[in-house]
Amino acid sequence: MSVNKPLPHDAARLHVTGTARYVDDMPTPAGTLNLAFGLSAIARGTITAMNLDRVRKAPGVVAVLTAEDLPHANDVSPSIHDEPLLSDGTVHYLGQPLFLVIADSHHNARNAARMGDVTYDEETPILSIEEAMAADARFEDGPRIYTKGDVDAALTAAPHRLSGRFDMGGQEHFYLEGQAALALPQEGGDMIVQSSTQHPTEIQHKVAEALGVPMHGVRVEIRRMGGGFGGKESQGNALAVSCAVAAALTGKPCKMRYDRDDDMTITGKRHDFRIEYDVGFKDDGRITGIDFTHYTRCGWAQDLSLPVADRAMLHADNAYLLPAARITSHRLKTNMQSATAFRGFGGPQGLIGIERVMDHIAHTLGLDPIEVRRVNYYAPAGDAQPSDGALSTKTTAPVKPTTSEDLTSRGAQDVADGSGAEEHLPQAQGLDAAEVDNSTPYAMPVTDFILHEMTDKLLEDSDYAARKQAVADWNAKHDVLKKGIAFNPVKFGISFTLTHLNQAGALVHVYQDGSIHLNHGGTEMGQGLFQKVAQVAAARFGVGVEAIKITASDTAKVPNTSATAASSGSDLNGMAVQNACDTIRDRIAELLAELHQVHPDTVRFEDGEVTVANDTMSFAAAAKLAYENRVSLSATGFYKTPEVAWDRIAGKGRPFFYFAYGAAISEVVIDTLTGENRILRVDILHDAGKSLNPALDIGQIEGGFVQGAGWLTTEELVWDGSGRLRTHAPSTYKIPACSDRPDIFNVALWDGENRSDTVYRSKAVGEPPFMLGISTHLALADACAACGPNFPDLQAPATAEEVLQAVKRARG
Ligand code: MTE
Ligand code: MOS
Repeated sequence: MSVNKPLPHDAARLHVTGTARYVDDMPTPAGTLNLAFGLSAIARGTITAMNLDRVRKAPGVVAVLTAEDLPHANDVSPSIHDEPLLSDGTVHYLGQPLFLVIADSHHNARNAARMGDVTYDEETPILSIEEAMAADARFEDGPRIYTKGDVDAALTAAPHRLSGRFDMGGQEHFYLEGQAALALPQEGGDMIVQSSTQHPTEIQHKVAEALGVPMHGVRVEIRRMGGGFGGKESQGNALAVSCAVAAALTGKPCKMRYDRDDDMTITGKRHDFRIEYDVGFKDDGRITGIDFTHYTRCGWAQDLSLPVADRAMLHADNAYLLPAARITSHRLKTNMQSATAFRGFGGPQGLIGIERVMDHIAHTLGLDPIEVRRVNYYAPAGDAQPSDGALSTKTTAPVKPTTSEDLTSRGAQDVADGSGAEEHLPQAQGLDAAEVDNSTPYAMPVTDFILHEMTDKLLEDSDYAARKQAVADWNAKHDVLKKGIAFNPVKFGISFTLTHLNQAGALVHVYQDGSIHLNHGGTEMGQGLFQKVAQVAAARFGVGVEAIKITASDTAKVPNTSATAASSGSDLNGMAVQNACDTIRDRIAELLAELHQVHPDTVRFEDGEVTVANDTMSFAAAAKLAYENRVSLSATGFYKTPEVAWDRIAGKGRPFFYFAYGAAISEVVIDTLTGENRILRVDILHDAGKSLNPALDIGQIEGGFVQGAGWLTTEELVWDGSGRLRTHAPSTYKIPACSDRPDIFNVALWDGENRSDTVYRSKAVGEPPFMLGISTHLALADACAACGPNFPDLQAPATAEEVLQAVKRARG
């Protein structure tokens, strides 16, 4: 069967030979025009005059558009119509598009775009968290707050208590292919748009609004992106809409792509966060109550900031049962690029908050940080049946009666002797049985928790105990170079928190020669979705993947799609395709069964052949027979995720169908004189359920980890006091290079299957491994802590400068 096999990415050969086609590579008709935006030079204010004469007279310029020239909607926002394509007179960030140049070449368009003569009535921009809080500049009326239990009472009663603050930076997506779009005008005002987008339906929707036509007048296609990482969920709207409007106006095909500087200056990035914490805990590190406050700079427009900030709150617990918790979230409006989706969608920011708390507690108590983590884990899933959708309100873990005496002696000892998962029950937290619900702060029971077993295995496979000792020995002998080692678990919720997005469609055709045309609502951005889904289709028909033709995402084939996001591409589209394939397969089976007078269930589709009674024929022969018997060989498929239900205002419900898990150990070395550092070794154990394609999944894990490590180490975004982004090119913004890959990089898949009923029991894998990169930051902090008695309080990104500061803080 074609699933569970480590087949190469369907376009691997095209990628490495440079023949894979991206939007900018599409052959364009003669006369295609090119576009560029004229950008705002200030971060906040009003335009008092805009003289574009020089722009209009520049070489190759065909037309220049301002907001008044737009025929219909001037909006490219994904949500609340707060994002004009071209400024309506007010300026909200430095780099905001003010006018649109249409020219005969990309070069001429860009040159002309710089010739605008714009004067402003400038206002002081709101940039920092402090400034935004002081001005009460925010989205929504006030902070959003989720609570579980009586936090204040828990904090007051706690034997130990500490508080702290952690600042983390944002992150540039740095997709290798920048944003790009191409619009091809059709007869009767229709428009075909090629767009480098994770969300073709949204492009269709926004283009239709801008042209004043129904959605049926617009067709959007995308074969692949050269990376999206969340940055092409909404940020491609401006280019696609510009191209469509310009194409409608001129009657010529229009193309637009951002150069890297423009891309970084114009588009939104990962949200940066400040997290304050106040935590109460026991002698063994068990948390009794915690109060988190999140502050996030959302930039000038709402974009996807609310669900991003929500997801940060939903991951404030990570893998830990919090008996009492309050999470307060401030979504601040600042005069910067509108922060947007980025791998993990707020999850990484929420998650690193509690990981920092775990380290702070361990440092305070002088305990091993892994021990502190393990005593706080959720109860294990135990031997409970795979949920298959059963939503229980209580833990499925075996509950053992425990006395309070053996509680105090437990914890630390369990970890020391490495005893099994069943010891780490919520009772071990010294709670009343009645209080024990193994639920998240948003009241979702955790029933599939496998991190006890995964942690045991990773510690063993990575030889953690011996290596930790070796690091300590090294540090005792060396003054300049200090090493650090750290572990972090990941529990990541899978599903869109906006429930209705959890749906997908598919369109499958079988041709009379047995070849198969595959289409679904997902998009390909390098993650291997198309290959995985093709493997599912091949498995349903019992044929090899070479029988499947993967085709471009196309709003004319599958309508009303969700963005390929939230890691749910294969969960949703895999199931929709399975559904479409089964419809066709069942029709063929029924025909053959009738011809042979047997039950349709006895018809077998295997190894490229179809067997009915004693008769075996090729799949192609079966398809031909079906065609000649007037059986339809085309079908749509549909899937919607069961069980999910979520009230984002109350902060209660079941936002996720299931959780994906992972664990990582990183070892690093720092130079205490310069702050320079390297990742020496990384060991990862990740849960992809029963992997649809282990090779692609391992690629996702490696890439996700490196991207996560980059976020927390070298990738630093710097805005100056005027709101200008100073890091807008690879010269000043450092993503990890090949040479930054750890010398030893062991990645293994957890051998298990999804307890929830997903496609072939696989799990989503796109985003969760990103958070394994947190272990590098924790390891750097561990190395800093080796320099002195104090908590190093390492912030993120841990650039060389920041590491140096943390070394100083540790020394005191
Ligand atoms: N992998 C590659 N190579 N390129 C990408 O752009 N995007 C990530 C992840 N892995 C991305 C990637 C993000 S943000 C998401 S949400 C998922 O892939 C989306 O695809 P999936 O749902 O098919 O996993
Ligand atoms: Mo991914 S951030 O959900 O596109």
